[in-house]
Amino acid sequence: MKKGIIILGSSNSNGTTSQIASFIVARTDFPIIDLNTKIIGKFDYEFNNRDDDFLPLIRHIVESYQIIVFATPVYWYSMSGTMKIFFDRLSDCLKTEKETGRKLRGMEMAVVCCGCDQELKEGFYMPFIETAKYLGMTYQGDMYCVEENGLPVINEAEVEVFLKGVKDEYSIIS
Ligand SMILES: Cc1cc2nc3c(=O)[nH]c(=O)nc-3n(C[C@H](O)[C@H](O)[C@H](O)COP(=O)(O)O)c2cc1C
Repeated sequence: MKKGIIILGSSNSNGTTSQIASFIVARTDFPIIDLNTKIIGKFDYEFNNRDDDFLPLIRHIVESYQIIVFATPVYWYSMSGTMKIFFDRLSDCLKTEKETGRKLRGMEMAVVCCGCDQELKEGFYMPFIETAKYLGMTYQGDMYCVEENGLPVINEAEVEVFLKGVKDEYSIIS
């Protein structure tokens, strides 16, 4: 089975996106990194945030995992600000941290997200797909869950399709 990690970028560590992430964990055993527990500053042209938690985290990821599952709520039709800062900081891997950036090449990426709208607006996944392409990563798929009454509606059939891309040997851990 592939080794994967879930990057959770929600303002609510116990919200719906976190619940979806936990649901994926139960079927993959992937660990979750909650970005709320990390100090990750915005991208800085002078790299003044180089000593925060981003570089140790991304180094650990490229050394240890094959696939990154990004878990984000939909905030204003986009990924969360927390997640966007993480994506902006991937630019460090093109400048001061090229060795790590090279190791992203060949890795895989997938996305799970949650919002209130019945349907996700077109284009939501574009930044993920294009980032994967730019970094030489393979985009393995995505899954959207609608929030209803404070809970994510999780469609088992969609989960099955999603997990096929995320795992090599597909078997649900029940
Ligand atoms: C700041 C903010 C912006 C939101 N924008 C959208 C949106 O554009 N589209 C949508 O479907 N839901 C939107 N929502 C609803 C959230 O996506 C939804 O409540 C989601 O389940 C929250 O996930 P969380 O518990 O992980 O934060 C927004 C919620 C917040 C707090």
